[in-house]
Amino acid sequence: MHKINIAIDGPAGSGKSTVAKKVANELSYLYIDTGAMYRSLTFLSLQAQVSEQDEQSLIQILEEMEITLEQQSDGEVQVLVNGERLGEEIRTQAVTAKVSEVSAHRKIREEMVARQQQLAKQKGVVLDGRDIGTYVLPGAELKIYMDASVEERAKRRHLENIANQRHSDITTTKEELKRRDGLDRQRETAPLRQAEDAVLIDTTNVTIEEVVARICRIAREKE
Ligand code: C5P
Repeated sequence: MHKINIAIDGPAGSGKSTVAKKVANELSYLYIDTGAMYRSLTFLSLQAQVSEQDEQSLIQILEEMEITLEQQSDGEVQVLVNGERLGEEIRTQAVTAKVSEVSAHRKIREEMVARQQQLAKQKGVVLDGRDIGTYVLPGAELKIYMDASVEERAKRRHLENIANQRHSDITTTKEELKRRDGLDRQRETAPLRQAEDAVLIDTTNVTIEEVVARICRIAREKE
C-alpha cells in the first residue's frame, strides 16, 4: 500500500469540505482546506484595510503570512495563520464577499499553489478547492469533481450558517453563491473547472456517507 493524493474540486456548497474531512479521517490522511488559505488572506487584508484590487499589497501580506496546519485528535485540521487559530473570523459575510476577488490575482495564486504543493509533497493528503485537479496537483492519483444543483447548495450553506449562528437568509445566500461561482469560473488564472480525468459526483440527491464511501472505495483501489 502506498499513500496517494486526492484532489476534490467543485463550486461552493457542493459538499467538498465535509466530504474531504471525512475521507481524510477514514483513510488517516491529512485534510487541507485550500479555501481557508484564501479566506485567511482576505481576512488579513480586511484588517489591514487593503483593497481586494491592490495585488501588490495583497502579495506583501501573503509573503508575511505564515500558514501552518495543526491536526486535532478528532482528525479536524486547524489552520494557524501567523500562529493564531482562525475559525469563524474567516467565514463571515465580509470575508465571503471579497474572497473571490482576492483569489483571482495571478501572483496570489502562484504563491498559494506553491505552498499547497509543498504541503502535498508528503503524500497522503486530501486537498479541496477549485483548481486542485487542474493546477495544484495535476498528477493527483484520484481527482473528484463534486457538484449539486444551485438550490441544494444554497440550502446547505444556509443551514450551515444557521448551525454556526451566522446571520443568513436563503435568497441572499443563493445570490452570493452564484456571484462567487461566476467569478471563480470566469477568472483568467486557474478558473474553476472539472479536470478531464476527474470523477464527477453529483451530490444533489445522495447522502454525505454515500459519497464518502464511494471516494474511499476508489482511493483504496489506487493505494
Ligand atoms: O472553499 P471556500 O468556499 O471556502 O473557498 C472560498 C473562495 O476561495 C472560493 O470562492 C474561491 O474564490 C477561492 N478559492 C480558490 N481556489 C481554491 C480554493 C478556494 O480560488 N483552491
